[in-house]
Amino acid sequence: MTEDAAIIEEFKRLTREALTYDGSRGILAGIVDELVGILENAADFQADRQLDVTEGETASSEGLAISPTQAAMCAGEFQRTAIFLRGLHDAIVEAVELKSPETVHVLYAGSGPYATLAVPLMALFPPEKVRFTVLDMHAVSIASAKSVVSRLGLDRSVKSYVLADACDYAIPTDAIPDILLCETMSTALEREPQVAIMRHLLGQAPDAVIVPESVRVDAFLVDTSKEPDLIVPESEDPSAKWTPDRIPVGPVFELNAETIRSWASLSDDRLPAAVIRLPPPPEPSYRPFLFTAITTHGEHALRTHDCSLTGIREITDIDNLSAGRTVQFHYRLGAAPCLVAEAVDQRDAAGSC
Ligand SMILES: C[S@@+](CC[C@H](N)C(=O)[O-])C[C@H]1O[C@@H](n2cnc3c(N)ncnc32)[C@H](O)[C@@H]1O
Repeated sequence: MTEDAAIIEEFKRLTREALTYDGSRGILAGIVDELVGILENAADFQADRQLDVTEGETASSEGLAISPTQAAMCAGEFQRTAIFLRGLHDAIVEAVELKSPETVHVLYAGSGPYATLAVPLMALFPPEKVRFTVLDMHAVSIASAKSVVSRLGLDRSVKSYVLADACDYAIPTDAIPDILLCETMSTALEREPQVAIMRHLLGQAPDAVIVPESVRVDAFLVDTSKEPDLIVPESEDPSAKWTPDRIPVGPVFELNAETIRSWASLSDDRLPAAVIRLPPPPEPSYRPFLFTAITTHGEHALRTHDCSLTGIREITDIDNLSAGRTVQFHYRLGAAPCLVAEAVDQRDAAGSC
């Protein structure tokens, strides 16, 4: 049964607010919370908070597919959800301008049970302009995403539902997407298969715009005792006096359309990443950390501590690397993907995960 017309109108209003609201984070959190509340109510899937949240996760050959419960919980990360919606919205507007009167096709890989990053936009763009393929490897999530779409009266916006591992999925030749949307990642691109999925799908749809357009990992020396006790998002208040004491070391790795294309001829389980030289720390307490920055599209970006994906991650097991030492990184693909650091002169491999 479809939701009340009033709920559907409220859903559209909240989506517009989530796309445009420019004030305090608290109010944005409230807007996203209400939006997600409508998705939750419409869904067949109800997260059981008594259960172990990892119940139902799948260890795939290219990384961990988190459980439907954990995927549902991602929706509440309001800054993440808002910035992905904004990026996808702008990518769709640009694609519609380019393709009109043809319909724009979005392939959403890893929808979770609410298809959170797509359903709100289905409510704004008519199906003549944009249609979605909704894919996940968990049957529970696909069935639930279907129930959400249906109850919100958006069936015509979905071209197909696909139950598959995105890393094995062969895109049908009559459904090559204009936009590839995927959020299957955690800090520093470790554990989850974002890199493998984007690489596999963009290889089949080389002209597609990817959302996020960039995930960039940089190294810094950090004295964590000088980081704020409370995690202060960088986007909280740009004029704030709070200045983190971090020493930039350099870019380590970036996932974007250009880097993915540059890896086309590589067939082993290593992707190239940067070499960095550790500068002398001002005090022994400074340790090397990886920072993650995500640009979903254009101006829409998630910076340090804005959400769990942009937390900081210590590069562990490299105590023997003193100042002045050079470290070579590579990205290791496979079941436990992550950036790996090696000392250039001693080859004493040291994983950052
Ligand atoms: C971090 S959750 C994101 C859920 C939702 N897209 C959102 O942003 O709120 C990642 C989702 O991707 C799915 N997933 C992970 N790896 C996958 C793979 N290889 N193929 C298909 N789905 C995958 C998981 O099942 C999970 O639903």
